[in-house]
Amino acid sequence: MVMKKLCFCELILLCHLLLATVVCSKHHGNPANDLVEIINQNRTAQKLPILNDSPGLGCMALQYVELCKGNCSGNSAVNCKPPDDDFTEVFAPNCGVELPTFGTITGHIVGCQSKYTEPSPAFSRVLVKDKKSLSLLKNKSNTEVGVGLVGFHKGPFFWCILFSNGRTNSTFVLEDRGQGIKQKKGCYSGSSFPCNAGQRSAVFLNHILTLSCLLIPLLNHI
Ligand SMILES: *[C@@H]1O[C@H](CO)[C@@H](O)[C@H](O)[C@H]1NC(C)=O
Ligand SMILES: *[C@@H]1O[C@H](CO)[C@@H](O)[C@H](O)[C@H]1NC(C)=O
Ligand SMILES: *[C@@H]1O[C@H](CO)[C@@H](O)[C@H](O)[C@H]1NC(C)=O
Ligand SMILES: *[C@@H]1O[C@H](CO)[C@@H](O)[C@H](O)[C@H]1NC(C)=O
Repeated sequence: MVMKKLCFCELILLCHLLLATVVCSKHHGNPANDLVEIINQNRTAQKLPILNDSPGLGCMALQYVELCKGNCSGNSAVNCKPPDDDFTEVFAPNCGVELPTFGTITGHIVGCQSKYTEPSPAFSRVLVKDKKSLSLLKNKSNTEVGVGLVGFHKGPFFWCILFSNGRTNSTFVLEDRGQGIKQKKGCYSGSSFPCNAGQRSAVFLNHILTLSCLLIPLLNHI
């Protein structure tokens, strides 16, 4: 009897370990942070100073692509122009960016694809592929960067990079260090919350796995 109980618990544990592997290997953590790293590697290779990863900018980048979700046109372009006021009137309040710390957004790069692409190909094939985005990436006056990404069910996958020339760590400051943000979908760089982009199927798989873990030992008892 004791033996059987042990096996049962071990099975559940094994299932959760399996799930962890499924989810983790899918995104290696937060792909928004990975993209910031790629941006900074590219700058470093050109002897440019690295950009500070700003969670406030990242959160607003995620808001930006949430708004543009219906507007992925062909060739990874996003046909979307939110009014400038949206940054201060919608994105910042939604993120809890303290308005007195709102700096200057010096540029943005947005791209979309029909499905999720790893950060490295997303960087070179979706985001930084023309002169305009390259000059933003290389601009010496930029000091901060934030990345947001989100995928929609059966729909396209969006990335957004926002740049700023604000003073590091004192612009786009998040209230409570971002603890209050209810991030339903997607992920952003510098976030203290885990990513939940494109993991719907993995979570579903977890439920199936857990269910079968519970059922198999039960069936064995019958
Ligand atoms: C998205 O595209 C539609 C149709 O082209 C357009 O009317 C709308 O303004 C776009 N949305 C934004 C936020 O630009
Ligand atoms: C760099 O960004 C600043 C601020 O947005 C802009 O005024 C300047 O023209 C940019 N420089 C280049 C080389 O694009
Ligand atoms: C930086 O990125 C651009 C755009 O993908 C690429 O053309 C360039 O080779 C990269 N530079 C370095 C040093 O990696
Ligand atoms: C900004 O904050 C980060 C994380 O708290 C820290 O590692 C970094 O040194 C700070 N940078 C500056 C210029 O204060």
